[in-house]
Amino acid sequence: MSLNDWKWIFIVLTLFGLIVLLRNIITEENWKYSVVSAALDEVQYGNQSSNLTRSLPAFYPNHSYCPHQGLPMSLEEQLEERNLLDSIIWPYPPSGSELLNLSQTSDPAHSLFTIVPSQKDQQWHVGDQLEVQIHLHDYEGRPKRYGGDFLLARLQSPHCRAGVVGQVLDHKNGVYSARLPLLWEGSTQVEVMMVHSSEAIAVLWRLREKRPDRVYFTGNFRRGRLSETTVCNMCFLLQDKGPRCNFTDLQTGEPWYCYTPKKLSCEDRISHAKGGYLKGIITSKEALLFQRCGVRRMALKNVSDMVGWSPTKLSGFDLCTNQMYAMQPLFDLSGVNIKVRINAATTDTIDVLPSRTSEERKEDPVTSGYYYRDLWRPFRDLPMRPFNQASAITQCLTNKLVYLYGDSTMRQWYDYLISVLPELKEFAYKPKSVGPLMAVDSTRNILVHYRCHGPPIRFATLMASELRYIANELDGLTGGPDTVVAISIWSHFSTFPAEVYMRRLRLIRKAVVRLLNRSPATAVIVRTGNPQIQRNDISLYNSDWFSLQLNTVLRSMFEGLDVLLVDAWQMCVAHHEPHNLHPPRPIIKNMVDLMLSYVCRNGTTNTA
Ligand SMILES: *[C@@H]1O[C@H](CO)[C@@H](O)[C@H](O)[C@H]1NC(C)=O
Ligand SMILES: *[C@@H]1O[C@H](CO)[C@@H](O)[C@H](O)[C@H]1NC(C)=O
Ligand SMILES: *[C@@H]1O[C@H](CO)[C@@H](O)[C@H](O)[C@H]1NC(C)=O
Ligand SMILES: *[C@@H]1O[C@H](CO)[C@@H](O)[C@H](O)[C@H]1NC(C)=O
Ligand SMILES: *[C@@H]1O[C@H](CO)[C@@H](O)[C@H](O)[C@H]1NC(C)=O
Repeated sequence: MSLNDWKWIFIVLTLFGLIVLLRNIITEENWKYSVVSAALDEVQYGNQSSNLTRSLPAFYPNHSYCPHQGLPMSLEEQLEERNLLDSIIWPYPPSGSELLNLSQTSDPAHSLFTIVPSQKDQQWHVGDQLEVQIHLHDYEGRPKRYGGDFLLARLQSPHCRAGVVGQVLDHKNGVYSARLPLLWEGSTQVEVMMVHSSEAIAVLWRLREKRPDRVYFTGNFRRGRLSETTVCNMCFLLQDKGPRCNFTDLQTGEPWYCYTPKKLSCEDRISHAKGGYLKGIITSKEALLFQRCGVRRMALKNVSDMVGWSPTKLSGFDLCTNQMYAMQPLFDLSGVNIKVRINAATTDTIDVLPSRTSEERKEDPVTSGYYYRDLWRPFRDLPMRPFNQASAITQCLTNKLVYLYGDSTMRQWYDYLISVLPELKEFAYKPKSVGPLMAVDSTRNILVHYRCHGPPIRFATLMASELRYIANELDGLTGGPDTVVAISIWSHFSTFPAEVYMRRLRLIRKAVVRLLNRSPATAVIVRTGNPQIQRNDISLYNSDWFSLQLNTVLRSMFEGLDVLLVDAWQMCVAHHEPHNLHPPRPIIKNMVDLMLSYVCRNGTTNTA
């Protein structure tokens, strides 16, 4: 390339940088979701924050072997990726923190929050913003001096079944603030929860970048009566040896490899399956940072008193089984450092008075919506309609082709539609949990189809012939006003560096753009990830922290596209039901109602 060419590249790069910078400055006016706000804090709070974290370089993942295996990225894509990585930077504990003992790490039981009144005899009105200050302490009760803890804050009013998620800001000195919009009248309770300590996040960070092998997969090869099973994955550690079958998808360039079977050849691959979870990936000291149910002795006694079991009967009992999960509230009191409530120093309840003005609430850039009487009210100029009768759903979906793609959180939408529409007749596919699934109402001309996403799908055994990438499936659709496409892909990406997810979403987004280009009236819906139960070991593979980071990526990658984003994260955090990878039916109903409100937003009344 001549020097002149380089000059142009340099100019384009500089311009791009400027645009990205400008965009950042513009969006900084909003209180972004807690991840982004951590970076923002620097700007808004100047040097009030501790110098511990500031002196550390930004913790960038090491681009070693995993992230950039797919097709080469364009310049624009590289810049976007860098920008996205910046947006998910999380404050990293000061060096040396890996030597800390549990007693020096964040302890929710010793931590407190207070409601901040901006004046004496403060009264709160609908439309105001409530501010809460959260002070993190360690197990000895000493204030923490650096940030990076993963906190959630929300408002709940059980009497009107209302809830909304607040935005948490990290001041990087052990103090956090949360801002919560006041949207309804009456008594309202503030709830703050520590999901993980900052020390635990540092472990998760390391695992995400260095141990993408901690969930592994298998491929089964078969010819005649000969059968062999080998380990498969998207990226292999450098030290991993042995010849590999290359199952990279030619259309998307998405990599996938399995060790070559000894007797059979690569073409003999029949099926794909989730292999399992690698154990022993953290030290026993680190394991203390992930105690969901390792009940403290004191608390254990309380629990046994309350439940009426003798401590001997409790000891040896697996406190982390789902059976015990039924007693969630008890264990919220006794959990150690995963998803534990932080108490209020004085009161956690305020009384919200009617709005001072008759004006309608303005759009809120970070809050996607809130619950009132268990009905989700989105902040988007999309009127949410409850679809309580099967006839209303049928009317909306008449003559429609509904394609649902993704993990099991999308299959829930399929299951929901099947369960509420008696006329929707399902084809008997087996096994049901894997799919693909299809149901038809031939009278009203409705088709509902579900297909899981491609590798690294973590389902039970799946035929290799059914391993399809969403982007390729979308390219096979004609689209149009009668086509509905919904996508939910997140959970099975939590064990990989974020770049792997960015690459997958880039491919899907390109396919969505192509689809909307050939058929602009196609309804496209994208669902984010949601919080789930965080048992001790589960968080190493499926932590909500991974999901939160993936959601930030997803939200910004689909921003500005003509698609409906269903914020499953906020819909689950705001709801009174406990967190679950597969959210309970009342939440699913709200998600599907939101989709239907979007699909039939122009009052489309189809008649077959
Ligand atoms: C910033 O730091 C300087 C010296 O460290 C201090 O004098 C000043 O008060 C600080 N400013 C704020 C806003 O905290
Ligand atoms: C942080 O601040 C303290 C007190 O102001 C100072 O003694 C220390 O050297 C600072 N640390 C760094 C890394 O700047
Ligand atoms: C990243 O890689 C470089 C060189 O390979 C190494 O010096 C550095 O320590 C690595 N950083 C981390 C955080 O692993
Ligand atoms: C952690 O505890 C051990 C044993 O009590 C002690 O030797 C060590 O110094 C402690 N580590 C730190 C960083 O305080
Ligand atoms: C696997 O195949 C793809 C597509 O043919 C190719 O780009 C890639 O380099 C191959 N990987 C290896 C490790 O050979």
